[in-house]
Amino acid sequence: MAERSLQVGVIGAGAMGRGIAQVVASAGQSVLLADASPGVVEQARATIAKALSRDVDKKRRTQAEADAVLARIVDAGIIATGYEAFHGCGLVIEAVLERLDVKQSLFSALERVVAPDAILATNTSSLSVAAIAGACANPERMVGIHFFNPAPVMPLVEIVPAIVTDRSVTERVASLVSGWGKTTVIATDTPGFIVNRVARPFYGESLRQLEEGIADVATIDWAMRELGGFRMGPFELMDFIGNDVNYAVTRSVFESFFNDPRYAPALTQQRLVESGLYGRKRDRGYYDYREGAVRPEPVKDEALGRSILDRTLAMLVNEAVDAVHRRVASPADIETAMTRGVNYPRGLLAWGDEIGPAVILGRLEALQDEYGEDRYRPSPLLRRRVRDRLPLLS
Ligand SMILES: NC(=O)c1ccc[n+]([C@@H]2O[C@H](COP(=O)([O-])OP(=O)(O)OC[C@H]3O[C@@H](n4cnc5c(N)ncnc54)[C@H](O)[C@@H]3O)[C@@H](O)[C@H]2O)c1
Repeated sequence: MAERSLQVGVIGAGAMGRGIAQVVASAGQSVLLADASPGVVEQARATIAKALSRDVDKKRRTQAEADAVLARIVDAGIIATGYEAFHGCGLVIEAVLERLDVKQSLFSALERVVAPDAILATNTSSLSVAAIAGACANPERMVGIHFFNPAPVMPLVEIVPAIVTDRSVTERVASLVSGWGKTTVIATDTPGFIVNRVARPFYGESLRQLEEGIADVATIDWAMRELGGFRMGPFELMDFIGNDVNYAVTRSVFESFFNDPRYAPALTQQRLVESGLYGRKRDRGYYDYREGAVRPEPVKDEALGRSILDRTLAMLVNEAVDAVHRRVASPADIETAMTRGVNYPRGLLAWGDEIGPAVILGRLEALQDEYGEDRYRPSPLLRRRVRDRLPLLS
């Protein structure tokens, strides 16, 4: 099947589905878009049209190109009676509600109408691809294609085969998505895949330091931004993502790892969510975004800032090394995922090598001694690399 002429289907036209449809259509492929709720596909096309006309204003594309992109996004109607409209699709990506039962029933109905060689993909960010595929009679053609929000802007896509996924399906999907102009990495079907797992300490360790009164949010953000080179501080970023969303991801990763303390959510974040302080979208989160609110000033104490950065960075590097150790992805893909998926200033393994693996190990051992918590346990691979005097990125 010629990949360029492959008919793509996207089910679910919310934030992610409409972004994915725009990516596919921008790459010159036609895409069928559907949703369960009336009017959503029309809204999606209107949002995409607006984004395309911004591109025209900025001379990123011509009006004729923008019109052609929009014309390639075809309204497949409302999914009420079934998925017949998708019978000619060679690839269908689902971006519906994050609920296992909803996704399972979608795929078990969908697989009956598509061709036997059609690929079925889920954009889930927190469910196991294996669990979704488990509802299918032919699970070997199911794969995870995890886009980041907003899909047209974020360059990274994690390709996530389940243990039952046929290798040729993974390879085909990776090459197809690369053809859409995205950077792909392959992740195993484990909680949080690469980015949402490895990034946990960025938030978690910052929250711990806040709760201990080591520094306030403005100071921790300042340290991570100014001394660490991160584009946003952890609290600014959580407010931007939405504390409800960030908390849900943290909980899901923690529970999926059978309550491993390394991923434990913070009570502070839970309380914020309980109070509706979701961040920017509610005008209040860690910061106050209301009219007239005064932004708190950080304490620009370099020694304090360095200690905040060093602690969080040790946890981040350890998490990246442990992801290599547990074969979540190749070292190169872990570096790519963190720099392209969440804009880290550099890959964590290379960063750890620059600091020195023994220094990272020393920081973790000191934290573990002081707190007596398993949360700070160094990855066995970190210990081995220090013992064997080998780099983390190899
Ligand atoms: N928002 C993110 O940052 C993000 C990032 C990566 C992945 N994801 C994942 O993408 C998926 C969609 O997330 P979203 O943020 O776009 O959600 P959303 O709420 O914006 O959109 C979901 C859409 O699916 C529709 N829908 C629900 N059940 C359906 C069904 N059975 N058939 C067809 N349509 C149905 C809803 O009407 C809604 O329009 C989820 O699995 C989510 O975990 C989200």
